[in-house]
Amino acid sequence: MDAAHLTDTTPAAAQDADRLAIDGGTPVRNRPLPWEFPGAHWIGEEELDLVTRVVKARSPFRFYGLDAQKMVDTLEQEWCAAFGHRHALGVSSGTAALAIAMWALDLGPGDEVLVPGYMWVSCVSAVVRSGAIPRLVDIDDTFCIDPQDLKRKIGPHTRAVLCVHMSGAPGNIAEIAAICREHKLALVEDCAQAAGGSSQGRAVGRHGDIGIFSFQLNKNMTSGDGGMVVCEDDALFRRIVALHDLGYPRTDAGRLDTTDASTQLWGIGARMSELAGAMALAQMRKLPAIVAAMRGAKWRIREALEGTPGLSFRHVPDPAGDTGATLLMALPDEARARRFVEALRAEGINGPQGSLTCITMREWGLHWYSNIPSLVHRRSNSRDGYPWTHPANAFGQEYDYALGALPRCDDLHARGALMAISSNLGDQDVDDIIRGIRKVARAVLP
Ligand SMILES: Cc1ncc(COP(=O)(O)O)c(C=O)c1O
Repeated sequence: MDAAHLTDTTPAAAQDADRLAIDGGTPVRNRPLPWEFPGAHWIGEEELDLVTRVVKARSPFRFYGLDAQKMVDTLEQEWCAAFGHRHALGVSSGTAALAIAMWALDLGPGDEVLVPGYMWVSCVSAVVRSGAIPRLVDIDDTFCIDPQDLKRKIGPHTRAVLCVHMSGAPGNIAEIAAICREHKLALVEDCAQAAGGSSQGRAVGRHGDIGIFSFQLNKNMTSGDGGMVVCEDDALFRRIVALHDLGYPRTDAGRLDTTDASTQLWGIGARMSELAGAMALAQMRKLPAIVAAMRGAKWRIREALEGTPGLSFRHVPDPAGDTGATLLMALPDEARARRFVEALRAEGINGPQGSLTCITMREWGLHWYSNIPSLVHRRSNSRDGYPWTHPANAFGQEYDYALGALPRCDDLHARGALMAISSNLGDQDVDDIIRGIRKVARAVLP
């Protein structure tokens, strides 16, 4: 927009400024917003240096080699020091970490794990592959587990709760942890989308028995692929270590130790390589700065838009612990949510072609239970239909996984919108987002 246009205060000019780009008006901006990959924007010399060290040492395996650089070891130690965990273990992905968590807790046929309806496919996948049955729990206005529905869903087969800190921020985690303690249920925190987040000063992953993280490209820090499992209990951690490897722990020399009967298990080969460890180490050192950038931008946007008629935001119980990666919004109904997002994209409030920076929740794929065909249709990896057909799992036959099972989830799925907050937004980007949302809200919402 040029200076002359800005100073033109005639009613015609005002009308033109208000006309949505989707209806032929002038867009708020012409450049795309940055991609939504938080850690990727910060990859630089530090990552290159650590990865180069591994390559130069010709030692990409963590447990031994020509001249092992101990990148994964260092990452685990610094992770514990930064977030207050007793144990941390680098693994190959968040999906692997979740599977390891289920097996470490000894879950299987006859057991039920409570999982929110807004999560990621890896969450139910981990439960099903353990042989246990997932039971869906509704969310509340935090977009995380609703403690009231959690209480309602606890039954005689419930053994664990998988709480997912969705879209960058924890929900009512203290209340959820208290319910788990009262009912003697294991609590696994999926912190894949919330690395660097906290609740009441306590880091995510420290509220339950096991916490898991992902370092896949979309996450707050990245090693391309990778993840972390954290836990405070020594015996549980020994199982986690054995399970992530070949079913056994290792000696100090890095060789498999098959002597301890309590850790003669079946591992899944999900070790973290030194190359991923080097990337993740450089990234974790930047995590506070990445999170501060996203949180600052997100809350500037949110505070500027608070009170906009027809637009509501996800409740974040502790904004100081929000990583700021995502702005979750709810519109009055599905039609207006679609129009709102389409109009925003036309205003240039969107990432580059192919990005998922500005979307309706309908476009958010396998994050919603009813969009996961393997769950809805109870698919199996084996011919016998396991674990759904296992006699010990007969209790789960009546459970419903199709759209309609969770009213609050379905409502927010239909009329929600998501804006990814990039980790490198400039002041102009933030101002444009605020202006764009205001303009669209004025035209589209009541
Ligand atoms: C909530 C959640 N859990 C688990 C995962 C799985 O992580 P990964 O992609 O590293 O396997 C992801 C991301 O993909 C996620 O968003």
